[in-house]
Amino acid sequence: MKGIILAGGRATRLRPLTKITSKQLLPVYNKPMIFYPLETLLRAGIRDILIIMAPDYAGHFLNLLGSGKDFNARFSYEIQDEPRGLADAFKVGENFIGDDNVTMILGDNIFDYDFTESIASFERGGKVFAKEVHDPERFGVVEFDEQKNVVSIEEKPESPKSRFAVVGIYIYDNNVIEHAKSLQPSARGEIEITDINNIYHEKNELKVELIDGIWEDAGTFDSLLAANNYWAKKAKEEGGQNG
Ligand code: G1P
Repeated sequence: MKGIILAGGRATRLRPLTKITSKQLLPVYNKPMIFYPLETLLRAGIRDILIIMAPDYAGHFLNLLGSGKDFNARFSYEIQDEPRGLADAFKVGENFIGDDNVTMILGDNIFDYDFTESIASFERGGKVFAKEVHDPERFGVVEFDEQKNVVSIEEKPESPKSRFAVVGIYIYDNNVIEHAKSLQPSARGEIEITDINNIYHEKNELKVELIDGIWEDAGTFDSLLAANNYWAKKAKEEGGQNG
């Protein structure tokens, strides 16, 4: 299983914080934001990790993370010249993925959940994760039937059919590369991860697991603040505030 952290984009919603560096390098309590998704992958046993970055501050990621030696892992890097969508990660990462399966996590998605079992038990198709939220219209939204089978997945629907948001970690088999190549850009000009999920869903190859624990998509001032507050409290509770 390979890992990808997608840390592209311009993060205009977080200006001026993101005028001089990438969103994924901003502090979340005592660590740069990207450490959280990185630790999520490492905790699940993934050691071979590609970091996909926007061009502007790519050097900052290299300075921070290096070869991966300090993390007992191996890091590779690719530049995504334009924010072409989440599904573009599988095209940018094609050579890195090779013939393997891949887990992709968004560089601004912060979880307090252990994905080890979900990754270890993955065999084929796609496996994504959902969590109940109060503002599902901001996300990919999954609708279930009474047996908890997936009925539909819609990207940022105006009238969400449920409160279950698809969170920013995705496990796919190697077919994801071909699926990504087959996509056309959506109305916002991006190739959408939701379209990938719908390809797997139509083939009856998509599983959705519910997660608990905190999940923040730290792309707004409020969610960034919430993530900082959560991890500050947790670090203090665990007595680790001084590192
Ligand atoms: C993206 C996905 C969306 C998903 C969300 C999770 O949204 O398109 O399906 O629910 O990440 O953070 P974006 O961050 O591009 O608005």
